[in-house]
Amino acid sequence: MTQTLTIRRPDDWHLHFRDGETMRAVVPHTARQFARAIVMPNLAPPVTTSALAAAYRDRIAAAVLEGVEFTPLMTAYLTDETDAGDMAAGFADGVLTAAKLYPAGATTNSAHGVTDVANIEGVLERMAEIGMPLCVHGEVTHSDIDIFDREAVFIDRILAPLVERMPDLKVIFEHITTKQAVEFVDTSGPRIGATITPQHLHINRNAILVGGIRPHMFCLPVAKREEHRLALRKAATSGSTKYFLGTDSAPHHRHAKESDCGCAGIFNAPFALESYVTVFDEEGALDRFEGFASLNGPAFYGLPVNEDTTTLEKAPVEVPAEVDGGEAEIVPFHAGETLKWRLAS
Ligand code: DOR
Ligand code: ZN
Repeated sequence: MTQTLTIRRPDDWHLHFRDGETMRAVVPHTARQFARAIVMPNLAPPVTTSALAAAYRDRIAAAVLEGVEFTPLMTAYLTDETDAGDMAAGFADGVLTAAKLYPAGATTNSAHGVTDVANIEGVLERMAEIGMPLCVHGEVTHSDIDIFDREAVFIDRILAPLVERMPDLKVIFEHITTKQAVEFVDTSGPRIGATITPQHLHINRNAILVGGIRPHMFCLPVAKREEHRLALRKAATSGSTKYFLGTDSAPHHRHAKESDCGCAGIFNAPFALESYVTVFDEEGALDRFEGFASLNGPAFYGLPVNEDTTTLEKAPVEVPAEVDGGEAEIVPFHAGETLKWRLAS
């Protein structure tokens, strides 16, 4: 008999939908699997206010196929000029679920990000007061810091001092990639949580560079050494409620990745659940998958869990070489591979 796993319907606590035709092509992949998703605001120009977030939310909702229930949870992109009152109002009226800290220059469309956390201290204090979570891209951007060290240095220089200054602030350390991040999260209080992507559970940096440059394996923070991947797998499957699912699905068209300056981002939305559950199966931790995928995120954000369920079955599914991405095709994570688990229809 086919092995199955039924869990409460999961959510994706970090992803990128883009806008326009691309957004309309990618949203259905996420809505097929997840009830809700935390939507990143790094559009060009970025979603910096609650009004922009409300308009973006409505465009996403219009891209959800008829009969599918899916709720986008919006974030605002913090800049040096962010108005604390607007963040608080957006949070109070339910338009904003969180605010996002991009250190300026850290990644795609982050040029308008925060140049120094000192510049948003007042906004963060207000967020701590009202219980509004802060999503953090945890990398320093100084050119003298090696790209493989940027997350660990961010912890020491920015995150640890911030958490100490503002113990009441809820912080999601997003898409963690290092054993240092795991250690930081494990030893921090209950207001610090972390998301982990499927790619950082599956690949180490060799996948990007061995045998030729593989642009579709490149994302930020970049995959690290094997010891870090193993630490992430242990954390995700440990049963700790501090870790939860966040794909960081980041669609870029094929030509933008296969370029002399290829974009960072892995489009994992089409087979995200299948990818994650494979890891939990390999680690002998299928009994912990529901916590990671469906319970820990809502608990951290203070939101209800989903009432309906999702069933996965241990049966092969082939990942296509490319999928429709609106204006052009996109190469998905696991392209051309056969995964061992699939969503039961
Ligand atoms: O690889 C990434 N892609 N990392 C990010 O932080 C941003 C994302 C994107 O927007 O493409
Ligand atoms: Zn992201």
